[in-house]
Amino acid sequence: MMPALVSKILLKYCEKQLLSIVLLSGKAYTFSLLGKACLQPYFGEKRPMFESLPSVPADPILHLAVMHREDTNPNKVDLGLGVYKDEQGHTPIMRAVVAAEQRLLDLEDTKTYVGMAGWARYNQLLADVVLGADNQPMAECRVAIAQTPGGTGALRVICDFINAAKPAAKVWVGKPTWANHHAIIKSAGLTLAEFPYFDAATHSVDFAAMMATLETEAEAGDLVLVHGCCHNPSGADLNLEQWRALGELAHKKGLIPFVDIAYQGMGDGMEEDAAGLRLVASMVDEMVIASSCSKNFGLYRERTGTALVITKAAEHAAVVQGQMNGVIRGNYSMPPSHGALVVQTILEDPELKADWLAELAEVRQRIARLRSELVQALQAAGVKQDFSFIERQKGMFSFLGVDKDQVNSLVNDHSVYLVGSSRINVAGLNDTNMANFAKAVAAVL
Ligand SMILES: Cc1ncc(COP(=O)(O)O)c(C=O)c1O
Repeated sequence: MMPALVSKILLKYCEKQLLSIVLLSGKAYTFSLLGKACLQPYFGEKRPMFESLPSVPADPILHLAVMHREDTNPNKVDLGLGVYKDEQGHTPIMRAVVAAEQRLLDLEDTKTYVGMAGWARYNQLLADVVLGADNQPMAECRVAIAQTPGGTGALRVICDFINAAKPAAKVWVGKPTWANHHAIIKSAGLTLAEFPYFDAATHSVDFAAMMATLETEAEAGDLVLVHGCCHNPSGADLNLEQWRALGELAHKKGLIPFVDIAYQGMGDGMEEDAAGLRLVASMVDEMVIASSCSKNFGLYRERTGTALVITKAAEHAAVVQGQMNGVIRGNYSMPPSHGALVVQTILEDPELKADWLAELAEVRQRIARLRSELVQALQAAGVKQDFSFIERQKGMFSFLGVDKDQVNSLVNDHSVYLVGSSRINVAGLNDTNMANFAKAVAAVL
């Protein structure tokens, strides 16, 4: 029913709908002539800013977590989210972290601000964790360091800083890589390019293709992002000779190695997992590194990471430090304190450090054991296909190598939750669900 006091009717073809704009007692309303008849306030050409925003699809991994939570099947298996889980399917707080937190609770007497680059002592300790004790770049004062909100924060600070140094610089990433690399690089205004990395046919790194692309297409000043260890999502890492070849190429072409190390200690050991990046650091003048304490200290939600920029000379490092601090100030001002103080407390106390390293070794060994047991469980379930690559890969992730329909069947028919790419988190397996998982895989193959 049309209101009585209509003084003017305008017809407008708007988004495939015939709309009338009705002036009613001096106020404008829209009235649809084709769809449902309803009156809405009219905003003229100045439409509300958020009205036309497209909706963003839910993050597939977080969506998977919701589906798993709502699934009532008692035999459901969650191999989606990238967090470590123990035999009970729980993500524990590490013993040394509990002890350090207790100490901090007793000792901390203020919550006043920390600096833009966070705690200086934490930064020094983390530089040694990543680059090794007595490393050359630190000894020569060639490293600018900032404590950051997680490894993600480190990646973003580095990308923002790079964009300030060289606007829209090109960052090469492997295909595939952690999906968030794409978002971070693009949000910072940098240019993303891809090199081939994982070969699904051999379940390993296609190093020849990777190097051929970088050799022919990358240019001086481009950055090359590689995973320090435990590649997410493939579990396929570079070996030391490949790191060396990458270092040589970077040196020859003036490329800047950009290493994301989010799983140090979860592959072969704290020192072994950083050996590749340390080798490259000894071969090039400039390099950037994003490190995370989320997994190896189990500090996920405490957002603890480190951005390191290695420069050619000490005077450059001082300038870079100022630039990085500026980038941080204009973003989140300063990092959260707690996680970094926990890490600092552990690394400074020989007993806590030894206990942390021992628990990390247990985690690492459990993941390696699960990888071997999975290969055996698949054989026991009658799978003829060769899955031995799972045993050779490192860290929490591997591609199962099944197609989208098979993934859907695993999720919908067997309550096995894994990402659409067929990435599984091996740490989600345990003695209770291993056989069921293997049977489900056998059923969809
Ligand atoms: C490859 C990679 N880099 C960085 C991160 C960042 O971790 P966080 O921001 O939680 O420290 C992750 C986390 O999943 C990752 O897999």
